[in-house]
Amino acid sequence: MSTNVSLSQYSFNDYRSLDNETLNGRIRLAKETLGSKLLILGHHYQQDEVIEHADLRGDSLELSRMAAERDCEFIVFCGVHFMAETADIVSNRPERLRERDNQRVTVVLPDMAAGCSMADMAAIDQVENAWADLGDVIDTSEITPVTYINSAASLKAFCGRHGGIVCTSSNAPKILEWAFAKSKRVLFFPDQHLGRNTALKMGITNEQMPVWDPYADEFGGTSAEALKNSRVILWKGHCSVHQMFRPEHVAAFRANHSDIQILVHPECPQDVNDIADLSGSTGYIIRTVKAAKPGTKWAIGTELHLVNRLKKEHPEQEIHFLSPVLCMCSTMYRIDLAHLCWSLENLVAGTPVNVIEVNAEIAKHSLEALERMLEIT
Ligand code: 13P
Ligand code: SF4
Repeated sequence: MSTNVSLSQYSFNDYRSLDNETLNGRIRLAKETLGSKLLILGHHYQQDEVIEHADLRGDSLELSRMAAERDCEFIVFCGVHFMAETADIVSNRPERLRERDNQRVTVVLPDMAAGCSMADMAAIDQVENAWADLGDVIDTSEITPVTYINSAASLKAFCGRHGGIVCTSSNAPKILEWAFAKSKRVLFFPDQHLGRNTALKMGITNEQMPVWDPYADEFGGTSAEALKNSRVILWKGHCSVHQMFRPEHVAAFRANHSDIQILVHPECPQDVNDIADLSGSTGYIIRTVKAAKPGTKWAIGTELHLVNRLKKEHPEQEIHFLSPVLCMCSTMYRIDLAHLCWSLENLVAGTPVNVIEVNAEIAKHSLEALERMLEIT
């Protein structure tokens, strides 16, 4: 769903050896030249030296809102591929295109290798096959498909076509309530942990949440009986960053630090979420730390760059990274100053590189699922 313009004015190779001071200066100059035509969006997991150049930063929900609401000609997305796809879909929705005389917003992802391993765990043909297989056992008109925003646009389009919806980690409880108000069951993909942790808080039990393995031979590795008794069918996907946090890390902090609070993201496994003091999205984690009294002690289970930034911004609190292993989002980390500078200077030159443009039919149906989400949250 992306176009790579090969006739770019500048080649990336020329940027590899530039030092940070040079890159920072050239990025500032390109930003000044593009002025209000340009919007740089940055996810909170982005490294500091890059996020400093973002006009706006946010979690997945906030960033999709910003892309939908802001007026500009170019969005440079310092995040990962699915976020840039979402920005393309919402910023080029039909009503906005009409207002702008069909002038599209150009969305750029500075490095195409900035993907998301979780999003890659559900492919559209696997989801289509699962839907057909489920139809052999249960009535699919009783199922609402819900995709985490961390998914390819084709999966969002699948949800749009089947009366389903998108969710993010900040609105998952509301979205599941919406889905259960209209149907008996939910198929939740690609993150089993967000789906499970959210549904457990609504009183749904693990027995009512079989896990669908797209690589299993029959019934997604579960059984016809389990599917008939299901409320939420969880896709077997996970975030490679958040699944690194373990209950023993929680136990170690509690043993060694009195009064410590464990604050985790709902992409962490159930055994960690169950024993944490607090759990919530990236935005929730930031707000919770900001609102806490000086001297509060935290062990935080989410992406490393964000935890390190919170440590820096809140020296009045004692903040620890929950895992002894440094888990960072290595794909988000692909966006560096060199890629940012290269993509901005090519925008200035009128030869955009790494443009993300979702196929029109997929964009149309993805938008249905995204708009349902934006309306109710
Ligand atoms: P949020 O931004 O919704 O917290 O999601 C975290 C994440 O994994 C982003 O990829
Ligand atoms: Fe994907 Fe996990 Fe990175 Fe988020 S943190 S972009 S879910 S791999």
